[in-house]
Amino acid sequence: MSDGGTSHVSAFERGGARKTAEGLAYLSGFGNEHSSEAVPGALPEGRNSPQRAPLGLYAEQLSGTAFTEPRAHNRRSWLYRIRPSAAHPAFTRTENGSIRTAPFTESVPDPNRLRWNPLPEPPAGTDFLRGLWTLGGNGDATQRTGIAVHLYHANSSMERVFSDADGELLIVPEHGGLLLRTEFGLLHVEPGHVALVPRGVRFRVELLDASARGYVCENYGAPFQLPDLGPIGANGLANARDFRAPVAAYEEVEGPVEVVNKFCGNLWTATYDHSPLDVVAWHGNHVPYAYDLRRFNVLGTISYDHPDPSIFTVLTSPSDTPGLAGVDFVVFAPRWLVGEDTFRPPYFHRNVMSEYMGLIEGAYDAKAEGFVPGGGSLHNMMSAHGPDRETFDRASTAELRPHKVDDGLAFMFETRWPVTLTAQAAGAEHLQRRYDDVWQGLERHFRPLH
Ligand SMILES: [Fe+2]
Repeated sequence: MSDGGTSHVSAFERGGARKTAEGLAYLSGFGNEHSSEAVPGALPEGRNSPQRAPLGLYAEQLSGTAFTEPRAHNRRSWLYRIRPSAAHPAFTRTENGSIRTAPFTESVPDPNRLRWNPLPEPPAGTDFLRGLWTLGGNGDATQRTGIAVHLYHANSSMERVFSDADGELLIVPEHGGLLLRTEFGLLHVEPGHVALVPRGVRFRVELLDASARGYVCENYGAPFQLPDLGPIGANGLANARDFRAPVAAYEEVEGPVEVVNKFCGNLWTATYDHSPLDVVAWHGNHVPYAYDLRRFNVLGTISYDHPDPSIFTVLTSPSDTPGLAGVDFVVFAPRWLVGEDTFRPPYFHRNVMSEYMGLIEGAYDAKAEGFVPGGGSLHNMMSAHGPDRETFDRASTAELRPHKVDDGLAFMFETRWPVTLTAQAAGAEHLQRRYDDVWQGLERHFRPLH
């Protein structure tokens, strides 16, 4: 329905999405049991599935983990809706556009350090879904392991509804605000915020500005959770209370609504005779979230040495091996650097994990130039990287006063397996051809003592 004329949804959308977004109320907390009802009395008391659900609603469970997974990891929600999700016609295949899914076989894994400029401007009328462009990834969506790294560049609000059976979507806006209308209610995110849409949850992305650009980690593996804090203690990093979950909100749309379902790598479409965003009440812990990265409680050294960047983990998707993440979402937020006799930018390193980095605003303290907002870099398993020459020279000779890094917001998807590129990423015009040059000219300083 990208022609924009046929649905009640378009009228619903037009009258001031920004005003709607800025007036939203939220529930607080991550991973806890929330409950919300848009109409008083819509939530049943004392049971999930009464003989007749209140107000003539249909009761429906949405599971994000197997029924039998440990309580600490179990994710599920109960939805009370105008029509059950089962009330839909058959899906048929539709074009995948620029979306690709693991296993990634279009190219061989590349050991080179790679960097891209931002995605080019899309054609007019490109919505969030059409604007999704897959850079690469790892694992296998059908095995529920690994990730895909996508970017998006859109200039039109979605009128269709989307859900992803293959994984959860961590959306990282870099330019342009977004209003997400989900089955659970509405979420507002701006650049510097992230949105997390669980596997299978239906939603529509509306633009709050003329265009929107950013990044998406599609996580096929275990749902993102907050990292353990160990000796840090009971507080710190991303605090659970700063995550925003929506309050219940529903739309009553009778008439054709296109619903697109991503399933095992392909997009499938069906035209419903109503909007599936018709949940009047819900409770559970399989819910969408928004989070302002500036709320991140940055911890670091107050003596010497640069801690490993795992100290900046916002969310982690654990694997079957303790401490080994399928993917960590890591943020490099404004922070004070006070280390004594310390090379303060990120150190030179080779890492068994693979790192995709993006920049939301400003600059990153290990790269003096070339790494721009909306762009990204990929340092695959064991590739050698670190500060560029200009940064090294400056940081090696700087006077070590307390210094605040407050001119940038960068992030990383750090994943256990190498990221294999799609053909479109490997051959992209916006792939920088001379990225290796940033490490050229690092001079020999070695002078053996006599
Ligand atoms: Fe790195």
